[in-house]
Amino acid sequence: MCGIVGYIGDGNASDIIIEGLKKLEYRGYDSSGIAIYKNGKIEVHKYKGRIANLEAAVANEHFNSGVGIGHTRWATHGAPSDVNAHPHSNTDHSIAIVHNGIIENYVELREWLIREHGIVFVSETDTEVIAHLIGLYYDGDLVDAVYKAVDKMRGAYGIGVICSKEPDKLIAVRKDSPLVVGLGEGCNFIASDIPALLKHVRSIYLIENNETVVLTKNDVKIYNADRKEVKRDVFHVTWDEDAAEKDGYDHFMLKEIYEQPKGLYETLNRRLDENGMIKLDGISLTKEDLEKFNKVYIVACGTAYHAGLVGKYIIEKLAKIPVEIDVASEFRYRDPFVDDRTLFIAISQSGETLDTLAALREAKNKGARILSVCNVVGSSVARESDDVFYTWAGPEIAVASTKAFTTQLMCMYLIALYMGSTKGILDMDVYHRYIDELKQIPDKLKKVLEQAGNVMEIAKDFYKREQVFFIGRGLDSAISFEGSLKLKEISYINSFAIAAGELKHGTIALIEQGTMVIALATQDRLFEKMLSNIQEVKARGATVIGLAKEGNVDIEQQANKVIYIPDCMDEVTPLLSVVPLQLLSYNIAKLRGCDIDKPKNLAKSVTVE
Ligand code: M6R
Repeated sequence: MCGIVGYIGDGNASDIIIEGLKKLEYRGYDSSGIAIYKNGKIEVHKYKGRIANLEAAVANEHFNSGVGIGHTRWATHGAPSDVNAHPHSNTDHSIAIVHNGIIENYVELREWLIREHGIVFVSETDTEVIAHLIGLYYDGDLVDAVYKAVDKMRGAYGIGVICSKEPDKLIAVRKDSPLVVGLGEGCNFIASDIPALLKHVRSIYLIENNETVVLTKNDVKIYNADRKEVKRDVFHVTWDEDAAEKDGYDHFMLKEIYEQPKGLYETLNRRLDENGMIKLDGISLTKEDLEKFNKVYIVACGTAYHAGLVGKYIIEKLAKIPVEIDVASEFRYRDPFVDDRTLFIAISQSGETLDTLAALREAKNKGARILSVCNVVGSSVARESDDVFYTWAGPEIAVASTKAFTTQLMCMYLIALYMGSTKGILDMDVYHRYIDELKQIPDKLKKVLEQAGNVMEIAKDFYKREQVFFIGRGLDSAISFEGSLKLKEISYINSFAIAAGELKHGTIALIEQGTMVIALATQDRLFEKMLSNIQEVKARGATVIGLAKEGNVDIEQQANKVIYIPDCMDEVTPLLSVVPLQLLSYNIAKLRGCDIDKPKNLAKSVTVE
């Protein structure tokens, strides 16, 4: 969580940094601040609330400075407040730092700094210890002081440091929190993520763990933990700044919902040859590899985990191999049975989710082969995997994940089809039937999006409810979980998803007159069973919105309102059925006046445990 930006050059550092922070607001947005070198001193300005508060407060400052650092925060230690906002400084305010991550031993370090060195702390943050450590070790050499401070720290950190006594330098360090360096002409940048830099540069260094970067306006040097210089290839960004803009839509979330046909088309077609065969290009999973695996483990968090639920179903069905699935935060702590015959699939949009990354490392240590499904090129998950199956969603900015989810689903189908066909256990007629169905999905999705007006009308009827249940069976159950997560995270409605067949084992006790139930009934072979489940909740007074395939009109007898998706094979319905649920959540949140792209308490990239 949190976003950092730093600049050194001849430009206007404060404007460049604030502009960059706005592109990182998705990483946290409860407070923000900048530290700017000016006339031999470092000036710090930081405020609770959105970056707009910071921007307004410094609008008339005229710093005329080309060196600074900035931060947008998602609070971990200490509530959002002016004083807890970053940057933090040492006692004489000669050093300022910004930090993304968590210092795990900060209590110990804080007590030591107070006891042994009489340091007075002003904030409740873990970060302030870093500023004081660097201040303590500073003896005319900032790089040396940073190395000594880092030696004492445990945890995850991407940090940016400036010092009034060495204003020609900006220093950054990375351990388990993302950090990139932008290479300009007569200026250089640091940031937590590439979009913050796209207005200025396309040439990037991706910084690795335990590396320290020393930036001056004309030079960038990267050093490893042993203080040895390391060389890095330049990464050239191919997507443009517009991809990270709203493009006339009210919210990024809505724009990203509408980008799904394109994202799915790209994710599918970049992996298909002219005969409809899946090409892995750069992924080295051979027939021998696949025959060696006796188990697949899928691990992810949140929405990505829901893509994994569909992945489990489809890989078991098409590739005939047992698939276990777990949320990453649980996987790590239960000594899972993983070995060198396990294919471990990590799914992550950002590629920076700390729980997923830690689970991946755990599986790697146990010998598993790591395949990740990732959206962000060069992210930590991507870099630490043996192979990466990229989603072609483009940058996803809204906190609520939409296009990343559907493109992750597409990857799951492709991985399952590849495994089944390469092992020779999937009939090739069946294989091609699936490919044909997948090829039709982008156009069918456009038809789903044409029903946005209908979904809005439904949202108007229900947006004041405070409790919603999602029910479904089979693949619909996985999409119920995703629909429910989407609704709760952006509208703050208390929503709950359950496999429809499980209702009668307890949860049905909560259904009463007027309870809202969204019933997914897209699976032909389970359709009648779902109609019975709808009847059960209706009998107890529920108001039901049904979701079914076109043609399955019997649902109109049971449900109060129905949303249809185009007819398709049962197995591929998740690619379509989730989209009306995304639109429903979006419209309900909008009617409730919620801050859709930046829901309370959340951040896009969850880099804390
Ligand atoms: O970047 P990741 O895919 O690893 O993120 C995982 C979850 O944090 C993410 O999907 C989260 O649940 C979204 N806010 C859901 O919309």
